[in-house]
Amino acid sequence: MVGKEEETDEAPVRALDEGDIALLKTYGLGPYASVIRVVEEDLKKQAQKIDEICGVRESDTGLAPPSQWDLVADKQDMQESQPLQVARCTKILDPGNDEPMRYVINVKQIAKFVVQVNENVSPTDIEEGMRVGVDRSKYQIQLPLPPKIDASVTMMTVEEKPDVTYNDVGGAKESIDRIREVVELPLLAPEKFVKLGIDPPKGVLLYGPPGTGKTLLARAVANRTDACFIRVIGSELVQKYTGEGARMVRELFQLARTKRACIIFFDEVDAIGGARFDDGAGADNEVQRTMLEIVNQLDGFDPRGNIKVLMATNRPDTLDPALLRPGRLDRKIEVGLPDLEGRAQVFKIHARSMNCEKNVRFELLARLCPNTTGADIRSVCTEAGMYAIRARRKTVTEKDFLESINKVVKGYAKFSATPKYLVYN
Ligand SMILES: Nc1ncnc2c1ncn2[C@@H]1O[C@H](COP(=O)(O)OP(=O)(O)O)[C@@H](O)[C@H]1O
Ligand SMILES: [Mg+2]
Repeated sequence: MVGKEEETDEAPVRALDEGDIALLKTYGLGPYASVIRVVEEDLKKQAQKIDEICGVRESDTGLAPPSQWDLVADKQDMQESQPLQVARCTKILDPGNDEPMRYVINVKQIAKFVVQVNENVSPTDIEEGMRVGVDRSKYQIQLPLPPKIDASVTMMTVEEKPDVTYNDVGGAKESIDRIREVVELPLLAPEKFVKLGIDPPKGVLLYGPPGTGKTLLARAVANRTDACFIRVIGSELVQKYTGEGARMVRELFQLARTKRACIIFFDEVDAIGGARFDDGAGADNEVQRTMLEIVNQLDGFDPRGNIKVLMATNRPDTLDPALLRPGRLDRKIEVGLPDLEGRAQVFKIHARSMNCEKNVRFELLARLCPNTTGADIRSVCTEAGMYAIRARRKTVTEKDFLESINKVVKGYAKFSATPKYLVYN
């Protein structure tokens, strides 16, 4: 036995030679890894060289270092240059041959002029109907200007993405799928629609009882898509003066058209989208006019299909049929009460951020609150937390949840608007 062991011990240990080491080093590398690395380093070196030759050093702010600022000269520069005047370019006159293009501009309350562009403006930048800046002596076009849009409309664009994702919406699987189909597919794969020769749906109406997550769903859409997202609350469009609301709608769509792709979300649309009726006094006409402008814009003369309209309401029965007809809001997606599985999911979503006991039976909890909305369940979770706080505990137990269900679901039933919704629809 012993002899045998010694024999195995003495089996010669072969040191790795260079070939083996080289082989080991290639482990986990793609075939082009080394080539790519060399090229990348080369690129970096070249970029550095270019920077050195230009003498440009990038700072964090993108400004030159303060030691090189010449504020006095800048000030003089600004005093010397005249302020420009805003005009509208109404027509472009193309002489056809090599002569420079001429433009008809309209300076408000002064006159119309036929002018040329300044030599440092590219003629391709100027379009018909554009706002331009002109100098005050020769009225040459000095500067193309962006369209003027009401500041309160510009404010409505959602710049930063909301932190809600589709994973935070529980139990509305079908609604999510259908909304993605309408919103994402036309933006990501427009060629599919072109091939089939159909227009993608323009708009979606989300309806359902209050607190089922309609606003939540829209925020998830905003998070997911790269398109510009504009959120308008219906009541914002109800303005004091006649025509103001309609003008805001027009500017809203104008702003949307300047974007590559855009989603407009009208929340609580029943504030403006109510069915038209005659109240005798003619007082509510303004609201109706706003709604008609939306209808008008939905029909749209612009063939570009990059604007999608989402609307949300909990009183779909009050909406004007003109708004709902196919071709305007093609899709009507009900965001209904979550089913058993959905409720358990919503429970889990809201308990995710809570310090819960390990084995809370969320399925059981879901079974105990029939006919509840997502908002109800959220309130159950909050209340369970309150029970734990009152008992000076650091974790929430299943018993807390049970007590809180008793309190919230049974106690708040009086106030719930859900049964009413179910009667209306
Ligand atoms: N399906 C759901 N999943 C997760 N949370 C939900 C769900 N539905 C509602 N909630 C909760 O209820 C709150 C209110 O929902 P919200 O979307 O504002 O309702 P509404 O349909 O009336 O617009 C949300 O902030 C969310 O916390
Ligand atoms: Mg809402």
